Amino acid sequence: METGNLRIEGRLTVLRPKRPADAEADYAWRIDPELAALDATSPLRMSLREYVRYFRDELEYPSPWSVRFAIDAGDGTHIGNCMYYDINDDERQAEVGIMIGDRRYWDRGYGSDALRTLLRHIFTGTPLERVYLHTLDYNVRAQRAFRRVGFHDVGPVRRDGHNFLLMEVRRDEWLAQQEMDAAGAQRPAGVTRTMARPADDRPGAAGARNPARGQAG
Ligand SMILES: CC(C)(COP(=O)(O)OP(=O)(O)OC[C@H]1O[C@@H](n2cnc3c(N)ncnc32)[C@H](O)[C@@H]1OP(=O)(O)O)[C@@H](O)C(=O)NCCC(=O)NCCS
Repeated sequence: METGNLRIEGRLTVLRPKRPADAEADYAWRIDPELAALDATSPLRMSLREYVRYFRDELEYPSPWSVRFAIDAGDGTHIGNCMYYDINDDERQAEVGIMIGDRRYWDRGYGSDALRTLLRHIFTGTPLERVYLHTLDYNVRAQRAFRRVGFHDVGPVRRDGHNFLLMEVRRDEWLAQQEMDAAGAQRPAGVTRTMARPADDRPGAAGARNPARGQAG
């Protein structure tokens, strides 16, 4: 998909195409051992200069099988990346990846909001029917954020020496969730919502195959 000047607004975050000026922050996140471990990969071992070269190549010759976005906070600060990749047009499915690289934004709803915004883009703007992801079985924060936006557990997967949890969300489930949220939002005051999360859940809101790109783009 051509992302061009696409700007997808969530409640807390904005998804936008990646640009050359993102390279330095991406590099800092890619050499960070903790972030690499949470992505089941190794920290990048190349100079910033080399990385910038790969990064520019990637911008110039994007893969047709992946769509990458930078995640900005509302004030324009670049806080992370997300993507969908391994796009399978026949099976109408793709994997998603996300990383909030700037730790100051962890646990404040930014990751959930970015992913919710990405799902809205995928399910309203592409023919994909199923979105899935693999997360390390001990990454409880990520799993909570993913469940919060509609993913459910499929089961454990052992891959490359790591234990992952496979999670997915399908278009019909996502649509049903939107309808429930819309109905909940219209309910008169005092009537308890059946949804696990409050109104901020409404829409609106691994692997280094290429050295310049992690799972989350
Ligand atoms: C995973 C990630 C995208 C989540 O984004 P986020 O903005 O930090 O998460 P949110 O604030 O939206 O939600 C985090 C949830 O985990 C909970 N949580 C946070 N730390 C936790 C912990 N140590 N144990 C259990 N739950 C935890 C929060 O309370 C929240 O749950 P709730 O909404 O049910 O209260 C982000 O933290 C990140 O990029 N981390 C580093 C890289 C990574 O793990 N990537 C995922 C690879 S699959």
